Amino acid sequence: MVQKKSEVLMDLSLRRSIFFPSAEIYGDSFSGFWDYGAYGTAIKNRIIESWRKDLVEKEGFVEIDGCQILPEKVFVASGHLNNFNDPLVQCNKCHSLHRADSLLGKEFELTEGTPIERFDELIKENKVVCPKCKGILGKTKKFNLMMGTDIGGTGKLKGYLRPETCQNIFLDFDRIYKTMRKNLPLGIAQTGKCFRNEIAPRNSILRIREITQMEIEVFFNPNKINETENFEEIENFKLRVLLEGKKSTEEIKAKDLVSKKIVSGKLIAYYLSRLQLFYENLGIPRDKLRFREVGKEERAFYAKEGWDFEVETSLGWIELVANNYRTDYDLKNHSKVSSKNLKVKEETEFIPHVWEISAGVDRTLYVLLELALREETKKEEKRLFLSLSPKIAPFVAGVFPLVKKEGLGEKAKEIFNELLAHKLPVFFDVKGSIGKRYARIDEIGIPFALTVDFDSVKDETITIRERDSTEQKRIPIKNLAELLWKLSVGKTTFKEL
Ligand code: GLY
Repeated sequence: MVQKKSEVLMDLSLRRSIFFPSAEIYGDSFSGFWDYGAYGTAIKNRIIESWRKDLVEKEGFVEIDGCQILPEKVFVASGHLNNFNDPLVQCNKCHSLHRADSLLGKEFELTEGTPIERFDELIKENKVVCPKCKGILGKTKKFNLMMGTDIGGTGKLKGYLRPETCQNIFLDFDRIYKTMRKNLPLGIAQTGKCFRNEIAPRNSILRIREITQMEIEVFFNPNKINETENFEEIENFKLRVLLEGKKSTEEIKAKDLVSKKIVSGKLIAYYLSRLQLFYENLGIPRDKLRFREVGKEERAFYAKEGWDFEVETSLGWIELVANNYRTDYDLKNHSKVSSKNLKVKEETEFIPHVWEISAGVDRTLYVLLELALREETKKEEKRLFLSLSPKIAPFVAGVFPLVKKEGLGEKAKEIFNELLAHKLPVFFDVKGSIGKRYARIDEIGIPFALTVDFDSVKDETITIRERDSTEQKRIPIKNLAELLWKLSVGKTTFKEL
């Protein structure tokens, strides 16, 4: 039987400890929590580093690192205490818990805005029963997805693990704006964990309870939404969009999204373009990505306009990034509840509006791995490899002595240390046959192998092997660091060597 792609990836992931269930040595550990091993962590870090370089630093934005636990009042103001809910239904017979919207399925077009009573009506009309024991289902309830905790010993201080990383950004905006000597538009970024008490976590690291996000909130003057600097750089860039109510994706130029009023202004078309470029650059093929326009009923409670950046996988279209026009919703509400004036004064006094680019790191990693997965048979030999871009591979190259003896081990170590001194992500291995070492790095997506053999000691050259083609070339050791750096950032390719 042919294994599904998601299963092949799961097997590989466990075998190479890329990601695996948290607390797995306890058979009854919670679902929806996942740990990353050495390679998974390296890939995750490289994704975040690319995001930092391309979407944060290049745009002149600033990055912060806020606390994961925040006071209850923050979530009264943000609306999460009242609105961050999923419809929960329990079986009267076996007491298992289910999400009412998942039980009913996609055909009913249930959204965040669907009233709770509607779920009961639909369950009754369609005779929906417990999928586990066919028992009768109880009444649907609102289930808040935030995880709470007591702070200190009084039992009176309630805190919550943040359900999205962006709340720190809204809380810190005033201080950052006043101290960083920047004018609007000002982007504040943050990566880190957020927590959601999902009723039914599933699909490995795609629907989880502890999530790593990389978020950017761009604060701007709503009267200047069409005064975006550098817009001409992307005005002819073609965005792939699925408009509300349409069945197929179309390519629309950034400037046409603005002139046809498909988006609220140039600023939005600009950041959507930058985001698509970022993901294309990480290796997602154009025909596998799209921005899906999120309709009014389906949008998060704080959003006036929304575009989900989605990628097609074997499990269907997966949302990687929520792009939301949050208007002045957050600052206005935090200002009200905290009594702190959060207005800025630039010509006039106003509360800035916010464009949000909220990306899931775990989902990005899953999708990049699944799209990179290759199985091929050459000369009756089966090979599994991850065709990851050198920009996000866990390491750019493995450095291998052909054998350990006769000075090859020392020579290889010397080259490895030199590359490390240049801060290049490289990997050293002497264990096992060279063929096994190649197979091992192919499986974890390392794009190049540098092999030190008997000639290397004589003529200062080594072999470079490319993962995808398995082709080999001989290159001088001199300038290796520069060459590897060029390969790692895409400034040159193996073909050009
Ligand atoms: N900040 C938006 C989200 O976490 O979905």
